[in-house]
Amino acid sequence: MGNFEKIKKELEERLREAADTANLEKVWRSYFGRKGVMSEEFKRLREATDKERKQMGADLNMLKKELGHMIEQRHAELENLKGNYDPEHEWLDVTHPVRAHKGSVHPISQTVREAEDIFSSLGFSIVEGPQIEDEYHNFDALNIPAYHPARDLWDTFWLKDANRKSQTANRKNHEPFAISNKLLLRTHTSPLQIRYMRDNQPPLRIIAPGRVFRYEATDATHNYQFWQLEGLMVSDNISVANFKAIINEFFDKFFARDVKVRLRPSYFPFVEPGFEVDANLKGKWLELAGAGMVHPKVFEAAGYAPTAVSAGGGNPKNLTGFAFGIGMDRLAMLKYGIDDVRLLYGGDIRFLRQF
Ligand code: FA5
Repeated sequence: MGNFEKIKKELEERLREAADTANLEKVWRSYFGRKGVMSEEFKRLREATDKERKQMGADLNMLKKELGHMIEQRHAELENLKGNYDPEHEWLDVTHPVRAHKGSVHPISQTVREAEDIFSSLGFSIVEGPQIEDEYHNFDALNIPAYHPARDLWDTFWLKDANRKSQTANRKNHEPFAISNKLLLRTHTSPLQIRYMRDNQPPLRIIAPGRVFRYEATDATHNYQFWQLEGLMVSDNISVANFKAIINEFFDKFFARDVKVRLRPSYFPFVEPGFEVDANLKGKWLELAGAGMVHPKVFEAAGYAPTAVSAGGGNPKNLTGFAFGIGMDRLAMLKYGIDDVRLLYGGDIRFLRQF
């Protein structure tokens, strides 16, 4: 056994000296090759007596295993070094600047966030509603009955099999109709007016930003999906003057300068009177929003009329309000100088990196 220890010690030393796998192979051969150390040891078995041979054989096999293991270990170490792992010299500079692609907030999201901040500062709360809407909230409750030509103002994506599903939805929501309430992708954010007023009493001041969809051909200023921001303020004796003050304040803050605003008479079935809101930024008038004074029929659908009391607890006739729907894409286009609305939905990284 003393001899075995010596063999192991020697191997240890030679392994330390073997600096690469080619050298290691030489070492392996000198131990396990035909004329190697182990062959010589096994040869000695022949000289042993039968009794001695059994023990010697077992010991030699054990030694063979151990030496083999030592060589394998060194082999693994050398392979690691080949992979350039050198713990003595390798280090990581955690302060080195990264060249990663930084993400940025989409221009529409930036626009929506800014608008939310401004309206919040003017006392408006932010609410949300479903993008899959039903016919009742998107049209009927907003004084746009079926077969009325006004419905053609909004080309609609109807959902397949919508009838069956919405009948169930109907029963759950206890809507006051039962004939047809098909599902659709909302064509504007105005259904939020109904949804909010049904659950809340005046006075109220809300905005509802969100994605809307229209089944129409696209061009530089029209897309089949875009963002609107609905606004609604209801209280006693609210007037067009109140609306003009709020929308003026909003545009001035959003564009950080004095913006000229004009109201142009227009028609929306859910307001009376109704107008388009134009803004003048660079000597040119641009239509940015639809707006008007909430129609009595809308108050009725919301459950405010004819029984609701006014905000001050007085005559219900005093209860008035304004509503508006701003096109957020057009706002973003003006602010960032984007000349085609479709760029906002293309997902082109070269475009998005600029924001
Ligand atoms: C409406 O959708 C009304 N619901 C707005 C409203 C709300 C009126 C409350 C009265 C009271 P209109 O279809 O005009 O109205 O759309 C409003 C704004 O959305 C437009 O002024 C425009 O800025 C934007 N817009 C309309 N169609 C598109 C389109 N295809 N692509 C991008 N923006 C659009």
